[in-house]
Amino acid sequence: MPHRVRDYGAGRTWELIAVAVLRIPDENRSLREHDEVRDYLAGIGIDYEHWECPADLTSDASADQVLSAYSEQVEKLKRQGGYVTADVIDVNADTPGLDAMLAKFNIEHTHDEDEVRYIVAGRGLFHIHPQHGPVVAIEVEAGDLIRVPRGTLHWFDLCGDRRIRAIRLFQDKSGWTPHYTSSGVDRNYEPVCLGPRYIPPQTAAK
Ligand SMILES: [Fe+2]
Repeated sequence: MPHRVRDYGAGRTWELIAVAVLRIPDENRSLREHDEVRDYLAGIGIDYEHWECPADLTSDASADQVLSAYSEQVEKLKRQGGYVTADVIDVNADTPGLDAMLAKFNIEHTHDEDEVRYIVAGRGLFHIHPQHGPVVAIEVEAGDLIRVPRGTLHWFDLCGDRRIRAIRLFQDKSGWTPHYTSSGVDRNYEPVCLGPRYIPPQTAAK
């Protein structure tokens, strides 16, 4: 996943900011600028934001510590979307039953409630099949917030490292049962993650 580089001027302080990659396979193109990704997704009804991760949140933080670190943002989202509960999902390659879990969500489906995920660690790949326009693949990683509204056709894959930790928000957990379309559309798209990439400041600077 590419990184945007900010130049703060005289101090020449560089900050690397992860930016989600949005691919449109049917048009053989990708969007890599944060605002372009956000605006394209907004045009197909998907909310996307990038929050900076708190510097004091360690990789071994408990679920409660994660929720506490993001309490301000989580409460804001709850107010905006009518979400009543939040939890933290944490899976990795060693998680028992991981393949069975993934098999529930890597084929085209909808839910009766929004799918809201803030990625704390790891990566994942959402495919969105909008009502109008081509299928898009959005690769999310730490700092990315995505809201897939209820009724949206979509599917989800982990990336090669099979690791993701994310805050989930729910209006009603029972509404999160997948409804499968059996369209087979998902089989037309490879679950390809581009992975972390690094743009050295000297080549990104003007
Ligand atoms: Fe889903």
